[in-house]
Amino acid sequence: MADVPASAVAPASVVAAGASAPAAPAGVVRAAPVATDPYQAGYQPVDLQATYEYPEMTAPPAPVLQAIQLTRDYQVGDEIVRAVREIDLAVHRGESVAVMGASGSGKSTLLHLLGLLDRPTGGRLLVDGVDTVSLTDDQLAGLRNRAIGFVFQSFNLVAGESALENVAAPLVYARVRRAERLERATAALLEVGLADRLKHDPSRLSGGQRQRVAIARALVTRPQLLLADEPTGNLDTTAGASILQLLAQLHADGMTLVMITHDPGVAAMASRVLQLTDGQFTDPALAAGWM
Ligand SMILES: Nc1ncnc2c1ncn2[C@@H]1O[C@H](COP(=O)(O)OP(=O)(O)O)[C@@H](O)[C@H]1O
Ligand SMILES: [Mg+2]
Repeated sequence: MADVPASAVAPASVVAAGASAPAAPAGVVRAAPVATDPYQAGYQPVDLQATYEYPEMTAPPAPVLQAIQLTRDYQVGDEIVRAVREIDLAVHRGESVAVMGASGSGKSTLLHLLGLLDRPTGGRLLVDGVDTVSLTDDQLAGLRNRAIGFVFQSFNLVAGESALENVAAPLVYARVRRAERLERATAALLEVGLADRLKHDPSRLSGGQRQRVAIARALVTRPQLLLADEPTGNLDTTAGASILQLLAQLHADGMTLVMITHDPGVAAMASRVLQLTDGQFTDPALAAGWM
């Protein structure tokens, strides 16, 4: 098509408005020409920002824990033991994850990595969105103290110190003043049902009571995440069941839990059960949270 001058395709109204109108007779008021061209005077562009409420954009919450290709090798003599091999794992707020697997499959190694008690030899680990691999030991300890409570199979209480002192200990590192430490430790022991054992030495407590003290110690810093490595492994059936009930209650109250267990009963209360074999999850997609 040949070039056509713009005037030749301009709408008639534009041409009419542009043409000089004949002078109005005296006493007659002419109506202003109706503008059909948006670029004529009087046209107000629609202000989309003013007339449309844009929904606030919020990113989905970051996982509390995210492991990416997480790896832990141990050098044993000339040999390398690959205890945790390139694991992808995401744990979201409020979840309860059970990790099962044969002895030696890497469960404790993995949980120690997740709890910042050990450093990976490969991969990345984000805790509450913080990339932990580049942190100094002090920064790591601070993050662990703030964000994570850890419960061990063997309780790891300090003998010769009362239940109250054991529970209050993490608050010393958090620089909480003594009066508040004792107040919060008392509240934590109350929460686990040991209000009447505050002054007891761990040696005078039953296994189940010791594990309750250990759980109170893990909770006293109000962590976002509770990690437990076979928390009922050293307990008889009755004490084990009551510890599980306590953990289930904490989860119902909103605590995020990752727990190693051999107990199908524990697995039943978990929102996800992950099987570990030779340092890897048997269902990597389930662990990574893709489904
Ligand atoms: N400190 C260590 N030094 C060398 N090898 C280790 C160490 N800790 C664990 N391992 C090895 O790593 C593998 C996984 O161990 P672990 O995480 O304790 O398994 P689980 O808790 O499932 O029984 C095992 O082969 C174990 O021997
Ligand atoms: Mg273990």
